[in-house]
Formats: sequence, structure tokens, C-alpha cells
Amino acid sequence: MLDLNKAKHILEVACGTCRLLPLTVNLKAPETTYLATDLTQSMVDAAQKRLKANLEKAGVKDSLEEWTKKNNITIKAANGEEPIESPHKFDRIIANLVLMATEDPLKMMRNLSSMAEEGCLFGVTIWGNKELSNFMTLIPEAMKAKGLMQGPPPRTPFHLYGKLG
Ligand SMILES: C[S@@+](CC[C@H](N)C(=O)[O-])C[C@H]1O[C@@H](n2cnc3c(N)ncnc32)[C@H](O)[C@@H]1O
Repeated sequence: MLDLNKAKHILEVACGTCRLLPLTVNLKAPETTYLATDLTQSMVDAAQKRLKANLEKAGVKDSLEEWTKKNNITIKAANGEEPIESPHKFDRIIANLVLMATEDPLKMMRNLSSMAEEGCLFGVTIWGNKELSNFMTLIPEAMKAKGLMQGPPPRTPFHLYGKLG
């Protein structure tokens, strides 16, 4: 769908611990740039630690620095609601499971659009239907049932359900 093999410049905002990168790196051409960002440096550190472990497990001889350089990958801290420093715009933008978590989802989408080249393809996912997300609701529901949590949270991860379609 995103035709990453045809991309020139990919931006992934809110990459978390870079779970997606081992998949996307195999879909893109080595010369295609890939900028993966997350809000905090501690998340970027966690992503780098995970990637290092992945490379070791896969028997890759390159260090993480060599591997990222060879594959034109940059991982850095950046707020997806604010312009991200880059010498070029992007023709693919990935925002996986972040819009329902960020302070201002509309601001993030406007900001991402401002960094998009004409014709840019977006891959955006959010948590959708509460009823189908037991993993996310089980603990809060159990706490509510035991009286450990009162009232609804100020904003749930499902607040965008039905608003983007
Ligand atoms: C549910 S995790 C998803 C992580 C990753 N995309 C994945 O699918 O594994 C949400 C991520 O969004 C990040 N995040 C939240 N607000 C952000 C913002 N304004 N800019 C960048 N990242 C943000 C969090 O730090 C967290 O890593």
C-alpha cells in the first residue's frame, strides 16, 4: 500500500522502540532515507538498545552505527507536533498508534502534512473499537470493578474512534 520500495524519503513519527523498522528496512531501497523519531531521548535510547540486540541476534557483524549509516537510517528525538529538522520533505510518512496518544492530534496531522511532498503517502493507524481491544481495557475495567479507579479517565486511547473515517 505504501510502496516503500518506490519511496525516496520516509519519515516515521513516534517510532517507539522501533518495532517497525526491521520490517520496513527490508522494503525500502538502501539509498532511501528513513528518519525515525519519538518524543523523548529515553525512547530513542530504548529503540537503539532493541535494534542492537536484534542485529546481534541476527548475526549481523556491523555495529548499529554502521548498519544505520549503510541503510540511510537516522533515529532521533523529535516532537511530531512541531516541524522536524530535515533537508528535504518526505514522500512517505508513517504514524503508527500515536494520534490517539499525542496532546493535539490535529496539530500533529497539520505538522506532518507541512513536511509532506506533493503526492506523499501516509500510513496512519490508531486504536479503534474499544470493544475489540481487550488488551487495552482489561486492567482499567478490573480496577474500576474493584473500586480502585473512579470515573472515566479524562481522555481514553479510543477518543479518535469514528472521527478519522
Ligand atoms: C503506542 S506507542 C506506538 C509506538 C510505535 N509507533 C509502535 O507502533 O510500536 C506511542 C508512541 O508515541 C510517542 N509519542 C507520543 N506523543 C508524541 C509526539 N507528540 N511526538 C512524537 N512521539 C510521540 C510515545 O513516546 C510512544 O512511543
